[in-house]
Parts: sequence; structure tokens; C-alpha cells
Amino acid sequence: MTVLKVEHLTKDYGHNRGVFDVSFSVEKGEVYGFLGPNGAGKTTTIRHIMGFSKPQEGHTYVNGLDSWTNTSEIQKNLGYLPGEIALPESLTGTQFIEMMAKLRGIKDMSRTNYLIEKFELDPSGVMKRMSLGTKRKLAIVTAFMHDPEVLVLDEPTSGLDPIMQNTFIEFIKEEKQRGKTILLSSHIFSEIDATCDRISIIKDGVIISTFVANELRHNERKTFKIEFNIKEEFKNFLEEMEKTKKLNITLVKQHKNQVKIEINDADINNLFDVVSDYDLKFISEIKFTLEDYFMKFYDRNIDSQGVIK
Ligand SMILES: Nc1ncnc2c1ncn2[C@@H]1O[C@H](COP(=O)(O)OP(=O)(O)O)[C@@H](O)[C@H]1O
Ligand SMILES: [Mg+2]
Repeated sequence: MTVLKVEHLTKDYGHNRGVFDVSFSVEKGEVYGFLGPNGAGKTTTIRHIMGFSKPQEGHTYVNGLDSWTNTSEIQKNLGYLPGEIALPESLTGTQFIEMMAKLRGIKDMSRTNYLIEKFELDPSGVMKRMSLGTKRKLAIVTAFMHDPEVLVLDEPTSGLDPIMQNTFIEFIKEEKQRGKTILLSSHIFSEIDATCDRISIIKDGVIISTFVANELRHNERKTFKIEFNIKEEFKNFLEEMEKTKKLNITLVKQHKNQVKIEINDADINNLFDVVSDYDLKFISEIKFTLEDYFMKFYDRNIDSQGVIK
């Protein structure tokens, strides 16, 4: 069953900014990653899904209802965590939680208290004196206190410290276990990689790739790096491969006596058969990560945290 649907969504802000003919859908129980650098169009798309913005072309649907014409209806069973949060500064966190509980008609506060504990939120202070991190936690608690079936998360871990980022990823996994449908936008590979079933990459307002995460994780192509102990043997090996074409060599490093080869999973025995005739220094598999795949689409660098620059 399709829960979220974006169909040929276009919003042109001029100067090539906006989103252009964006389409994807999120099935019930699925965690869907929406990945792209700053300015790619993630928030614009999500604001349309929430019904805050009218499409120029196309439609967005939540549980089959058009977001723009059923805005209040679609939000009832949906938890939305915006990228930028605006909270009433003069209230204390506790007052805000009480206000939101009343608005949502929540009487049983056990879910709210669970979230407060999980995210180690101290809601007692006045919001204008809260740190950004505490405000983010407050936004998390109030976005999900009604235990919605659908979670729409716009860069949810930004502004959280690394420990709370992990807590949040744990929370997403828990919610998935509980059968929730989740759309998660991010510019951070690792959190998408850790949680998502399917992923779309958006760049300059256009979806450039959509794929099933596991198909990449369990890629059938494997790359191995092999180093030979003796130069002579290394040359013999290259000659043999040249003649027999038994292995697909993708890179040769003459000065290091190294090759990279690419094989299909099914050919693993063939690989070991061939190399067992040679005196090897080592043979190691080079793991292909989602990050490698993403990088094909970016001419940018990624820092050590996996953030696209
Ligand atoms: N209300 C708006 N008016 C004009 N331009 C906008 C508006 N909202 C977003 N944009 C532009 O659209 C592009 C996509 O923005 P956004 O959806 O916020 O990207 P992301 O959330 O992926 O960082 C950016 O170039 C941004 O400057
Ligand atoms: Mg954004």
C-alpha cells in the first residue's frame, strides 16, 4: 500500500532553483531515504507533502489524499519534524508539551514520557534560554507524542550531538520495527545507509537515482586487491591473464606488484584457483559501500563524517 506519493511535482523558483518533475512513493512500513546536498530541493518537496505549499505542477498524496486540498486531514496521523523549528519562545518546554497534548487530544502521556526519557530532554526551562540541541529534542518529542503512523523527517539529526544522533537513528529503527512508514531527508550518508530500505538521490531539484538499498549492499560484483611477493611472478600472472582472460583486471600497479580484479560472486572459486599458483603477499576484498555509489553522482568531497560538502 502506498502511503506517500509525489507525482511529477514541480515548483520553479527561477534561476534553476526549486524542484522539477519529482516523483517517488513510499510504501507502508518502509523507511525511504531522500538524500541530497544543501539546496537540492529536499525541504521544498517535503513542504509540499505536508500541504504547506501548492504545487505548480503535479500532486502529492498522503494515504491517497491530495496534500494541498486535505491539509488538516493528512496531518492527523502524521508526525512532521521540520528542518528549521520555530517554537513559542516565552513558554517553558513543559508548558509547550502540555499545550501540544491538549491540541492533539492526548490524555495518556506514557508515549510522551517515553520520548522525553529516550531523548534525555529536560523541558523545565523557558524556550528562549534553551540550547539548540534541547529545542530539537523538544521538537522531536512534540512531533511524535501522538504516536503517528507516518513520520516525515527533514534532516532530523541536524543540531543534535553525536550521541543524540545515534539515539535518533535507534528511534527510527524502533519505529520501523513497529511498522511505521518513514520519509527521512538527509545530506549524511551514514544515517541513510543505517536505516533506509529505498533511497532517492536529489540534485539541483531533480531526482537522479532511485534504488533499493539492499541491492547495493549485497552487490554481486566484488573487487579484490592482490599483491604478489615476487616481481617475476607478478609479470607471469599478468601474462597468463592476458592470454587466458581468466580474471578481469581493472587496475595494475606495476611498482607495487598489485592488481585489482573484479569478479562476480559466483566466480570466487575460479579466483582462488588461479591465484593459488602464485606466491601472494595478500589478497583482500575492497568493500563497495553505498557511499561509493553516491559519490558517482557528486563531483564533491565527503568529509570524515560522511557529510557531502
Ligand atoms: N520560498 C522560496 N523562494 C525562492 N527560492 C526558494 C524557496 N524555497 C527554496 N528555494 C530555493 O530552492 C532550492 C531548494 O531549496 P530546499 O528545498 O530548501 O533545499 P534542501 O532542503 O535540499 O537544502 C534552493 O536553491 C533554495 O534557495
Ligand atoms: Mg532543507
